[in-house]
Amino acid sequence: MDQQALMRSLNWFYSLEVEQVDLYRTQAQAATDIYLQQVLTRVAAIEQEHVINLEAEIRRRGATPTRLGAVIAPLLGMAAGTVLNWTNTRIVLWADITLEEKAMADYKRLILKVAEKPLFDLLWDHLIDEDLHTAWFSNKLKELDRVARRS
Ligand SMILES: [Fe+2]
Ligand SMILES: [Fe+2]
Repeated sequence: MDQQALMRSLNWFYSLEVEQVDLYRTQAQAATDIYLQQVLTRVAAIEQEHVINLEAEIRRRGATPTRLGAVIAPLLGMAAGTVLNWTNTRIVLWADITLEEKAMADYKRLILKVAEKPLFDLLWDHLIDEDLHTAWFSNKLKELDRVARRS
């Protein structure tokens, strides 16, 4: 993989992670379920660690972290600046699962192209974190479905 393509990829992840920190904090504020609120706050803190890791990796390569414009909105099929109803837990979970799955797919793709450490380990760490986030969000969604079926 050439350096230019790698830098573009790292900046894409950097942009996504920065937006996720913001989004999860916003969703935490809107959440009516206290457990969901705590999870989103904790997940936002983990995404913030991802931002810091990516910043360090980009700087280590002699570049400056650069945001690539709106990343999340198009992934959710929305125009930039669209605000969804984050008090609706299902919408939160749908959006977050969509983003985490996209992040996982892209981390996996990049892992296949990068053999050198420490970047290889960083990508694996982030992939596993996103996998755990997806698992919690998906499980919560299933739980909502079970409760809805009973009532
Ligand atoms: Fe992340
Ligand atoms: Fe995540």
